[in-house]
Amino acid sequence: LDNGLARTPPMGWLSWTRFTCNTNCVTDRDNCISEKLFMDMADQMVADGYRDAGYEYVSLDDCWLAESRDKDGRLQADPLRFPSGITGLVKYMHSRGLKLGIYEDFGTRTCAGYPGSEFYMQLDAETFADWQVDLLKFDGCNSNPQDDKFGYPAMSFYLNKTGRPILFSCEWPLYEFQKQMPSNYTNIAKTCNVWRNFWDVSDSWDSIKGIIKYYGDNNALFQAHSGPGGFFDPDMIVLGDFGLSYYQQRVQMTMWAMWSAPLVMSNDLRNIRPESKALLLNKRLLEIDQDPMGVMASRIWIFSDLELWLKPVMPKGSFVFVYFYSQDNGNGIPLSTPLDGIGLTDPNGYNITEVIDGQHMGIFKPSDTFKCHIYPNDVFVAKAVPLSGAFWARSKVADWS
Ligand code: DGJ
Repeated sequence: LDNGLARTPPMGWLSWTRFTCNTNCVTDRDNCISEKLFMDMADQMVADGYRDAGYEYVSLDDCWLAESRDKDGRLQADPLRFPSGITGLVKYMHSRGLKLGIYEDFGTRTCAGYPGSEFYMQLDAETFADWQVDLLKFDGCNSNPQDDKFGYPAMSFYLNKTGRPILFSCEWPLYEFQKQMPSNYTNIAKTCNVWRNFWDVSDSWDSIKGIIKYYGDNNALFQAHSGPGGFFDPDMIVLGDFGLSYYQQRVQMTMWAMWSAPLVMSNDLRNIRPESKALLLNKRLLEIDQDPMGVMASRIWIFSDLELWLKPVMPKGSFVFVYFYSQDNGNGIPLSTPLDGIGLTDPNGYNITEVIDGQHMGIFKPSDTFKCHIYPNDVFVAKAVPLSGAFWARSKVADWS
């Protein structure tokens, strides 16, 4: 969507996977869907460097609404759980250099049964703009997926009409996928900034593997429609939750970065292990995700439980390549990569760095073979920067300084 937003994939935090629809603020005050939860996360994002690393949207999901609209038909937050109202929450975020995301549904009710936007889309778009909300996640429960192709563009139109830049996060293709209907990604990319098109992520390794397979099997189609302004959304980052091993967390973070996917965490930042935090804040991984070209990686090949992905990144002529090995047992396998065989053909050669730990691996010519070892349910991530490009970049820096 050409509205000036999401020129790189949006980053932030969203409540759903971790906190779902917990409205029990009586005996579970710290973890229920209430303004306190979002304020707590915002504080943590500022204090622990997430905001400064680029995570800027703090977003509500389902269950923030009151049971009904107000007397003028306007949406309202649950008054007990959100005593400051959405305007109060927006102020809280903006004063900390963060943005607020909100959630609604195209149908008559949200998935959890709260008032939906059907028949109220213009009013709701205006309400969100009045409240100075920065992002809208638009769900599709309790609607007819045949109507999505009209409903999502209508909401996009009304949001645009408000004049406020509101990042539009759609679930349009997900509901078509669920009904086995084909999706018109050309229209979706014109309408939305990011879009969900596969099952909800869950905090499990099977879920992450399933998403990687789906994105791999549809690689050419998705890649053709992804880029600055409009990105595929494989759903939330579950690093720091309960379901993934450390190595599996490396896989999720890396693959999402390779796709230039939105990085929207759903975890408890008040209580997170240092190794998860380090991955979420890993500068080299974030740089891959946020690469200004925003190209979704290609799955170069897949052979049983081993696959290779390649993504062009800046500086010009550079690539990130990733091996993903989804074997459960053993000690992994040694790998050899003839560089020209995967398209690294710059005759001057490349500087290659392992990305997660930042270890320099050496200088390689296209005719050289790059060797590494991959472990079970893990990734090996390397960035190759052409020497010619690196020299060019260095001389430019020298010119400017
Ligand atoms: C379905 C969506 O796909 C989820 O991400 C979440 O928003 C739930 N609905 C909320 O009910």
